[in-house]
Amino acid sequence: MCARNTRILFGKPVADAILASVKEEVSTLKGRPPSVVFLRVGSDGASVSYVKQKAKCASEVGIQGETRVFDAETTEERLLAEIIRLNEEPNVDGILVQLPLPNHIHTLNILCAVNPRKDVDGFTDVNGGRLWQGDGSLIPCTPAGIIELLKYYHITTEGKQVVIVNRSSIVGKPLAALLLRHSEFGNATVTVCHSYTQNLSDITRQADILVLACGKPHHFGRDYVKEGAVVIDVGISRVPADNKRGYIIRGDADAETLEGYVSAITPVPGGIGPLTVAMLMKNTLQSYYLCQSH
Ligand code: GUN
Repeated sequence: MCARNTRILFGKPVADAILASVKEEVSTLKGRPPSVVFLRVGSDGASVSYVKQKAKCASEVGIQGETRVFDAETTEERLLAEIIRLNEEPNVDGILVQLPLPNHIHTLNILCAVNPRKDVDGFTDVNGGRLWQGDGSLIPCTPAGIIELLKYYHITTEGKQVVIVNRSSIVGKPLAALLLRHSEFGNATVTVCHSYTQNLSDITRQADILVLACGKPHHFGRDYVKEGAVVIDVGISRVPADNKRGYIIRGDADAETLEGYVSAITPVPGGIGPLTVAMLMKNTLQSYYLCQSH
């Protein structure tokens, strides 16, 4: 087996190009800028950091971002009341509820209460349903970002075997819907795996494109991957480490052992992460137009 050159698929240049075009478009708009409200419940470390990143990015592209924080004991009714109020607020285009929510809150009730035009995460039943009909305009940001990354690096999906190790409504299911579309970066044969999948490595080894998002740090090495495959690593785990933060970020792929074996791989951090935030800005602009035209 000869070692091959593995391409590292950095997300930053892709995200930068998307953000530059959003910024440019926002600068041409008349009147108030697009706006998005981030709702965060509790103070989970990762959620605090994600919402901060989103708010910072919004301000960098000229989008008005506001964060509203609720304590971890907030009731479902209280959160619902806030969403209903924001749905009617003419100066708010986008509403994002940071997940996960505390266990006493029914996540689906909350997500589906968002006005579908303001649903910048694409998590409502309406936008999810549209996506499965092949007609989505507000598409969940991480899967949308994965498609943008594939486009940017000219990695086609048509007729390919794509295996996704994740069945969530944030990543696995919407990504499957996108890859099944009758379009240039669709037309794939898609398999979705999860915690009950048997003989996982037999399935993942079939993949031309393997998407990992199951939160098992450095779990997927050569045993799970076909030589020459493309690996999209969406896993983000905080692994305890002896540094200032007390942790390091690890992906699901055992990147070191896959180097020289796969044809391309996204790094963690620096791969899909920046794209999720960039696609959120694109969705916020889309929500602005949807709200203006209503
Ligand atoms: N938590 C983890 N990923 C996401 C995401 O894409 N959107 C929201 N709202 N919460 C998340």
